[in-house]
Amino acid sequence: MTHPAPTLTLVDSDPAELAVDAIVIGLHSQPDEGGALLPAAGAESIAAAFDGKLTATLALLGATGAPGEVTKLATLGTIAAPLVVAVGLGDEPSGSAPATETLRRGTGAAVRALAGSETVALALPVPDDTDAPGVLRAILEGALLGSYRFAGYKTKPQPGRRDPVRALQVTVADAADASARAEVTRAEIVAKVVRLTRDWVNTAPNDLRPPQFADAVVAAAEGTGLEVEVLDFDALKAGGYGGIVAVGQGSEAPPRLVKLSYTPEGVTDPKRVALVGKGITFDTGGISIKPTAGMWEMKSDMAGAAAVGAALLAVAALKPSVAVTGYLAMAENMPSGTAYRPGDVITMFSGKRVEVLNTDAEGRMVLADAIARACADGTDYVFETSTLTGGQVVALGKRIAGVMGTPETCERVRAAGDAVGEPAWPMPLPDDVRKGMESEIADISQTNANMDRAGHMLQGGVFLREFVAEGVEWAHIDIAGPSYHTGEPNGYWTKGGTGVPVRTLLALVDDVAANG
Ligand code: BES
Ligand code: ZN
Ligand code: MN
Repeated sequence: MTHPAPTLTLVDSDPAELAVDAIVIGLHSQPDEGGALLPAAGAESIAAAFDGKLTATLALLGATGAPGEVTKLATLGTIAAPLVVAVGLGDEPSGSAPATETLRRGTGAAVRALAGSETVALALPVPDDTDAPGVLRAILEGALLGSYRFAGYKTKPQPGRRDPVRALQVTVADAADASARAEVTRAEIVAKVVRLTRDWVNTAPNDLRPPQFADAVVAAAEGTGLEVEVLDFDALKAGGYGGIVAVGQGSEAPPRLVKLSYTPEGVTDPKRVALVGKGITFDTGGISIKPTAGMWEMKSDMAGAAAVGAALLAVAALKPSVAVTGYLAMAENMPSGTAYRPGDVITMFSGKRVEVLNTDAEGRMVLADAIARACADGTDYVFETSTLTGGQVVALGKRIAGVMGTPETCERVRAAGDAVGEPAWPMPLPDDVRKGMESEIADISQTNANMDRAGHMLQGGVFLREFVAEGVEWAHIDIAGPSYHTGEPNGYWTKGGTGVPVRTLLALVDDVAANG
């Protein structure tokens, strides 16, 4: 469904001599020198070939070194490549390299700007000291994610539309260096699954209803060594998954719960991590139907489950020393004669009874069952992610996810997200919000009993907490904003699915593997 990712090769030859279609260099501004431009590390030989005129020429073309700014310069025989592309990396860094996210975004922007090229070399600052391993990783991820493009459904090729870059060469000090090569392998695995997440999110919702989504995940898991279990509608009913059944029963395309398990080899008593994702393949709101405007965007309401499925695929390839299990709760939220309704009381998988007040709060219904199942299977951690509330977008915007859960685990999510460029911010689970969800007739209301939307992102977290077993460390990551990008392409974000929070989930798995 998508354009293939570019191939990736490490090279340690002189960038000025690389016979490629274009060569990307970094560009800083120097605030202490009145904003004068400075080529970033890696671009030395190219600057030398321009005989001292490189920065002056780039300035003439309007370059300022601002992060993500792309300036193209014809080289007219000064170096082997016909084109230099200078990408702004901000102020001259105080340390050995710019911030990793600046590099990730800058590389993404440069590679996007080079669509139509066959082979592109990246001569960006990769410090050769091993204490900056994140730098090469960020450059590789930025390149592989920035070159993503969803193939889409057009029946004719678009005139003037240029295909993504096909081959990337990345200049490093030593192309045979084992840790650099390991970063390439890792980046290829990670980018492949982030791209797959984007594909799933971008797929039209008539092509990705729960049975098709489940089939796609199972097909992707084939041959990876992951253990796969799929609960269909009958199995969900028989198993008492009241929340998933309630939401799924309104659609002709029945719900699914997909479980993917990875068990590390040769590790006795590994830590257990459960990843849980919301997989609403389309959210009309159900009987509490949504307004028409923007409803199409609810094709992305399965971004959490897509991210969890993708993360498991990467885990199977990266083989960390922790047990990781993914739970993908899939349903289509439709209004129909069989749909669940406001007023319904649902007996959930955990046995708790929930009074439904708004069928548009469907995510927490399916997630509560998936979380409870994860806890019943036995786990040390639950990391759940979902496009759960518009309140997340109101509170934190389109880039920063909201995190609720046990405080230490929330902090680990924040740190993991910060490290990979997927920011997430801890939010509270206040007692008064829980009080507002007391039901007259059941154990808990699904939303505030007076339909008060105050703190409505927090209501989601407070509700889900009820389904986490005692002693399990957990975090709910609300990605309503950051999972889907509606603006113009930006850095390594293209239009549509972003793949957030796949790389956070992988960082969390690494964190648990390293620190328990
Ligand atoms: N899928 C939506 C949340 C959403 C909104 C995701 C915007 C992405 C962008 C969710 O199922 C929903 O409808 N939430 C309601 C909750 C309310 C009924 C308590 C909301 O946000 O209004
Ligand atoms: Zn939803
Ligand atoms: Mn909804």
